[in-house]
Amino acid sequence: MAKINIVGVGPGSPDYVTPAARKVVQNAKLVVGAQRSIDLFTADIKGEKVVLTAKNLNDVLRQSAECIKVGENVALLSTGDPGFSGLLHTVLESGFFNSADINVIPGISSIQACAARLNISWDNTRLFTFHDEVSDEEKEKLISAVKCGRTILLLPNSRGFAPKDIASFLIELDIDKKTPVYICENITLENEKITSSTLGKILGNSFGSLCVMVIKADSEVKG
Ligand SMILES: C[S@@+](CC[C@H](N)C(=O)[O-])C[C@H]1O[C@@H](n2cnc3c(N)ncnc32)[C@H](O)[C@@H]1O
Repeated sequence: MAKINIVGVGPGSPDYVTPAARKVVQNAKLVVGAQRSIDLFTADIKGEKVVLTAKNLNDVLRQSAECIKVGENVALLSTGDPGFSGLLHTVLESGFFNSADINVIPGISSIQACAARLNISWDNTRLFTFHDEVSDEEKEKLISAVKCGRTILLLPNSRGFAPKDIASFLIELDIDKKTPVYICENITLENEKITSSTLGKILGNSFGSLCVMVIKADSEVKG
């Protein structure tokens, strides 16, 4: 039975693309993904390729559903891991597919790559994503996790809840300005940059949109 394979492509470097991801892409009649994801598979793609944009998402999902109906496999490329702030949620919510149509190929999330860079064991961390939505409910959960002294790994939102906005939000709610933060930009890419700072010091700073923010207890972070 043909599937829509939602393929995790990792944080961006070809070194972090799994052989399982390549195999699925090689066998797909239709490969869909953002340009930077498609570029990771230039030598693997044998079928039709479609560059995914915010505008064509619905049309492309409909086309994917039609493909699998006629027995053709689809590979939908999702950055990092599809299950964390990725395309799995979009596909499940689209209404075009049932569970049996979907096959997820896990990928290395930017969150995992960030935790690895900072020697963070993430068993007891709290994960947040504000990438798609910045809700009051999630902001409330964030503040209580910080107040409980939990290590936080989060995806900011460059349009409304960027690292400096998060710092300002937390400081206004009495979180210590000296709380350590780490901003990991472009992880695994040539322009990777890790900034070690504090909530107070990043108030005036801007970072690239491809970043993970870490707010954490000092003793758990490597220097
Ligand atoms: C749509 S979300 C996808 C997250 C993805 N599913 C994952 O597991 O990493 C996109 C956000 O992931 C983060 N991200 C993805 N790749 C990254 C990288 N190489 N370095 C830092 N952050 C990255 C950024 O916060 C970016 O805005």
